[in-house]
Amino acid sequence: MSPPADVVADLLAEHDLDALHGRSLLTTQEWPVPDLDAARSLARALAALDRRGVRTPLCPDELAWAVFFDQSTRTKSAWAGAASRLGMRPVIVDGSSTQVSHGETAVETGAMLGMNAHAMGIRHDLILGEGNSFIRDVKTGIDDYLAATADPRRVPIVNLQCDIDHPTQTMADLLWMEDVVGDLAGRKIAVSWAYSPSYAKPLSVPQGLITLLTRFGAHVTLAHPPGYDLTADTMAAAESNAAAGGSFRVVDDMDEAFADADVVYPKSWGAYDLMVERVAANAAGDNDGLAQIERRALDRNAEHNDWICDERRMGLTAGGEALYMHCLPADIGSEVSPGVMAQHKVNVAREANWKMYVVMALIAGAKVPDVAAVLTSLEQEANR
Ligand code: CP
Repeated sequence: MSPPADVVADLLAEHDLDALHGRSLLTTQEWPVPDLDAARSLARALAALDRRGVRTPLCPDELAWAVFFDQSTRTKSAWAGAASRLGMRPVIVDGSSTQVSHGETAVETGAMLGMNAHAMGIRHDLILGEGNSFIRDVKTGIDDYLAATADPRRVPIVNLQCDIDHPTQTMADLLWMEDVVGDLAGRKIAVSWAYSPSYAKPLSVPQGLITLLTRFGAHVTLAHPPGYDLTADTMAAAESNAAAGGSFRVVDDMDEAFADADVVYPKSWGAYDLMVERVAANAAGDNDGLAQIERRALDRNAEHNDWICDERRMGLTAGGEALYMHCLPADIGSEVSPGVMAQHKVNVAREANWKMYVVMALIAGAKVPDVAAVLTSLEQEANR
């Protein structure tokens, strides 16, 4: 029997992991491509070790605090799984149970959490213009506190979905795409709106996808019905990213986006004008108004209930065999047909599994000096 291979050193050799030290991930657009590459390679190294049972307790007994101002299954689980595998203690708190709901500011909240935590994750995705700003203010609060007290701890912030981006999701998506189709350069990817009767979903996943995938030479087509625009900033970023290679176009026909695509990512999001209307109703604490906007959003979605990823549409893709992707949860029977989901259910779970390793990489990369040497040594020890 051949001895176990040293995969970690190979995965990490070409990357500047020092660039990740002390870093927070608030949007992928702010990170240079080599740093995104380094983080994904670190995620691959951590996954390789974890999947063969090699423990990586790189941050023993430290506190990994995450606060969620919206529901989550996968991302909470990814945070807890990542922190536990790094030897940290994960704590996940419902945002509505914090004093933020009594008006404590994000900066103050950040200072209080920064005293005690060693890494922090935040989901704040429901209201346009608020979530990413909230995360930045928390970071300011933490950084100011640590600087004022000469506290040397690194407390990275991980955006676990905001109004602009869902970077741990899209990095996981990118890892899974690379697993299946390899280098994205020249690949055709359809990011399409799909019908949902369940709720007006945030814009951050499609925005995160168009801004990230256009940086890797892919031909990205965004498809949505009229009125389901994304924010002007993320559209401009996608267009500018694509100018360096690949392409970015917008169509209002799901079939056109699917035609000859190598990868399809059909998911729902809320109509733009209603997402904007929500901002004022939320600021006024107008819960009846918010409920009424939500009903109108679902009525609007229902006008496009033929936007489903079904067997016919999958047949339009490259060889009829495009990689189907979804961040989950998917509305089965609305966003995707039961048959298509049944065919791809293991694949979407494997896509989701990458998020835990992305979170591990972000925390370990930010906090552990010379992380490549530490992981290489753990692997060599396991191989002896
Ligand atoms: N895709 C995703 O972020 O799932 P959760 O909302 O369950 O975390």
